[in-house]
Amino acid sequence: MIPADALTRLKSARSIAVLTGAGVSAESGVATFRDPDGIWARFSPTELASMDGFMANPQRVLDWYAHRRAVVDAVEPNAGHTALVALERWITQRDGTFTLITQNVDRLHQRAGSRNVLEVHGNLVEDRCSVCEEIHKGEQQLDAAGLPVCTTCGGRLRPNVVWFGEDLPRDVWDASERAARDADVFMSIGTSSVVWPAAGLAHTARSRGAAIIEVNPTSTDLTPDVTWHIAAPSGTALPLIVAALEAA
Ligand code: OAD
Repeated sequence: MIPADALTRLKSARSIAVLTGAGVSAESGVATFRDPDGIWARFSPTELASMDGFMANPQRVLDWYAHRRAVVDAVEPNAGHTALVALERWITQRDGTFTLITQNVDRLHQRAGSRNVLEVHGNLVEDRCSVCEEIHKGEQQLDAAGLPVCTTCGGRLRPNVVWFGEDLPRDVWDASERAARDADVFMSIGTSSVVWPAAGLAHTARSRGAAIIEVNPTSTDLTPDVTWHIAAPSGTALPLIVAALEAA
């Protein structure tokens, strides 16, 4: 299932960058966005993942994110997450560098034990002030309408997740682009590669000479441009890759 020349390329890599998407968490029981029963087939992104939707009905948006937090709290990292922890350990023990760029907001990579994680779309755990941008976590102060507000400036709190039409966090994005530029091998795992700018990272890596390994049971917009497409779930393919590297 894993092409021998992909393993050879990984074995000689000094720098690996990985981009993950919702597919990596599918085997933990977290729905993806664009598969047939995905989140955006059941819910409106305009209502639930945009500032306009939040302004129109903040309570509805907060309730939906509270539900998503509860879903994520109730699941565990899967074999794909664990294999990425082992891949990071494997290359750092050989003095190589490893960057895990994730579009996922579920924190499952960190719960599995991944260390160098860049969250380009934020996370579900924190709130952010919509006025002063301060990050909040834990106990909340409520306004007269029962909505959470910033303890510093009184602005309305929102989930610390990037919504449609919003910029990605600048420092996180800059670090992600650097990792893509420096990578010998770039792995795109469990993402449909349709959401930009994250989808552009693989192209950045490729333009600088990196080999691209895609792990996804189905083909994506990126597939025509990859070096190897491994058509399998990440919870199956990633442990095989790591076992082969560790055995070498
Ligand atoms: P998508 O739902 O667009 O794509 C999920 C991908 O995972 C699909 O290509 C599936 O084929 C693949 N997949 C499903 N099961 C898999 C498995 N077990 N192993 C490997 N791959 C599997 O999710 P993303 O690409 O992550 O943005 O979506 C990107 C962004 O769109 C998300 O971060 C989110 C959404 O709007 C924000 O929340 C800002």
